[in-house]
Order: sequence, then structure tokens, then C-alpha cells
Amino acid sequence: MPAPASETRQNRFDRVIAADQRIEPDDWMPEDYRKNLIRQIAQHAHSEIIGMQPEGNWLTRAPSLRRKSILLAKVQDEAGHGLYLYGAAETLGITRHELLDLLHTGRQKYANIFNYPTPTWADMGAIGWLVDGAAITNQIPLCRCSFGPYARAMVRICKEESFHQRQGFEIMVTLCNGTVEQKAMAQEALNRWWWPTLMMFGPPDTESAHSQKSMQWKIKRFTNDELRQKFVDATVPQADLIGLTVPDPELAWNDERGHYDFGEPDWDELRRVVAGDGPCNAERMATRKGAHDDGAWVREAAVAHAEKVAARTAEIAA
Ligand code: 3HC
Repeated sequence: MPAPASETRQNRFDRVIAADQRIEPDDWMPEDYRKNLIRQIAQHAHSEIIGMQPEGNWLTRAPSLRRKSILLAKVQDEAGHGLYLYGAAETLGITRHELLDLLHTGRQKYANIFNYPTPTWADMGAIGWLVDGAAITNQIPLCRCSFGPYARAMVRICKEESFHQRQGFEIMVTLCNGTVEQKAMAQEALNRWWWPTLMMFGPPDTESAHSQKSMQWKIKRFTNDELRQKFVDATVPQADLIGLTVPDPELAWNDERGHYDFGEPDWDELRRVVAGDGPCNAERMATRKGAHDDGAWVREAAVAHAEKVAARTAEIAA
């Protein structure tokens, strides 16, 4: 986008954002824009890799080879999503080592939702249907984020998320069409995952520390409450279709608003879980740090090989 000669770099940034164009890593950007992007993209990436654990718990216990291979593909996808997003964050001048250290030392967060246990196979259905469904609701607008690498990573991730959501919903349909016990297992999973999924969209807009700036910078295109409402409006008819009951006595279609009215999530629970006091926080972090330590030899070997290749290349060039 050609810049008028007298334009300051702040004016150019503002003009690009106003024109719904993309800011690229080599472009000048305000420091707080860069820091906010690192924060959000890093936590998104952390969520993807921690998110592998709840489902990884069922890889060896899936009820059929077909289900096992689908779940394996999904968990592998989540690892890839983490890598795309770490790659996008690194274009902002932070290293993978720093990002993982921020996660491992609790100085950066990951999504609340991955701190809940997965005691039954129906949890695999509920996670795909609800959690990945919420992720799609949240991530589709991020495909229009003003920061180029994040928006482009989202395009590919959203394509894979739709497979994740469909396979989860298919598990729930299968269970609801199964025995009485299987349908009860699906309902019990919905009861446990519904409210933590609504919390995935973040605190209410009145308590959101970052939304206003993120909306101004066109990182976020909708507020937390707007996306939560979109998710409820889309998901309740799906639950109705398979004969499951959303565990919210205040849920009711509001003809005037053209949306569902629904109850207030327990924001104290969100704050507690985000602060580390959820059912599985300690287990998730211990597993994450253990995997990181177990992989140290791979990182060391890769660095040693890269150094050897660099030395050889320099030798040849000399
Ligand atoms: N879990 C953990 N922390 C949360 C949270 C949640 N559900 N919701 C909000 N927070 C944190 C924020 O990170 C922020 O803390 P910080 O200042 O230390 O970063 C604080 O609570 C205040 O929240 P805000 O609303 O002000 O924060 P944001 O404007 O960043 O909004 C968000 C929160 C909606 C999660 C936003 O960051 C976002 O859209 N992130 C990208 C999507 C994402 O990260 N999704 C996580 C799940 S990934 C996933 O689902 C993978 C799929 O494959 C299953």
C-alpha cells in the first residue's frame, strides 16, 4: 500500500488497519499492538498443545479402530495448530524457547477448558462437538485479524477444526442413537462440558481487559459476549436434534431478540481455573513439562546437526 511521503509510521499503521489491510511482521507496529498479539497468539498456541492431553487420554481406549484413527488424526492436528501459532508468534520477535518457558513457568495462560477430566468416551464427543465448535466460532473471525501471519494460520486451522467438530458431533449422535446407558453417558458429558465451554469465550465484556483495544486494532472482530451468543444460538438446536438437554434452566428462545436467552456462567470458576485451581491443572502442566524434558535430546541433536551443517557450509564457502 503506497504511503504518502509525509505520512508518519503511526499514521500508516492506522491507515492500514482502517482499510482492513494486513500488518505484516516487517511493518512498523505500536509496541502494545505487538505485545498484545504475542500474548494472544502464544496463549492460543499453548492451548492447542495442552489441548492434546484430554483427548490423548483416550487414544489407547477408543472403542474401534476407526474411532482411534480419527482421534489420532485430531490430536495430531492440534499439535500442528500449536506449531503454526508458535510460528506466527515468533514473527513478532519472541523465540520458541521463551514462549514455552512463559508457559512452563505459569507466566502465560492456556484455555480454561483443557483443565477438566475426560472420564468417559462421550467426553471425546463433547470436546469435538462443543470445544472445537466454540473454537470455530472464535477462530473464523480471527481469519480476518489485522496481523497477517495470525490470520493466515487461522484459515488453515479452521478447515481442520470443522473436521474436529463433525467427528465429535458424530460420536454424540452415535451414543444418542445407542443404548439407554450410552445416551445417558452423552447427556452426562454435555452436563459437564457446557458451562466451561461458554467460559472459553472469555469473561463478560464488562470485565474483558483486552477486548476494547483488540477490537480497535481489528485483532478481535467480535466481543467475548457476542461470540458466546453466536455459539449458544448455533449449538442449542444441535442438542435438540439429538435429544440432549442443555443444562441451563434459564435457556429460552427470545423471539424479540432473535437469540437464546441463557444463564450466567460461574465467573468465579473461570477465575479459579485460569489461576491454576482447576481439576486437572497440575496434571496438565506436569505432563507438558515432562514431555518437554523428554524431548530435550531431540532439540540438542537438531542444534548440533545445524551447527555442523553451518560449519561445513562455511568451510566450503571459505
Ligand atoms: N481461558 C484462559 N484464560 C482466559 C480465558 C479462557 N477461556 N478467557 C480469557 N482469559 C484470560 C485472557 O488471556 C486475559 O488474561 P491475560 O491478560 O493474562 O492474557 C484475561 O483472561 C482477560 O480476558 P480478555 O477477554 O481481556 O482477553 P482476550 O481479549 O485475550 O480474550 C480470548 C480472551 C477470547 C480467549 C482471546 O484471547 C482469543 O480469542 N484467543 C484466541 C483463541 C484461543 O486462544 N482459544 C483457546 C482455545 S484453543 C482451542 O480451542 C483449540 C481447539 O483445537 C480445541
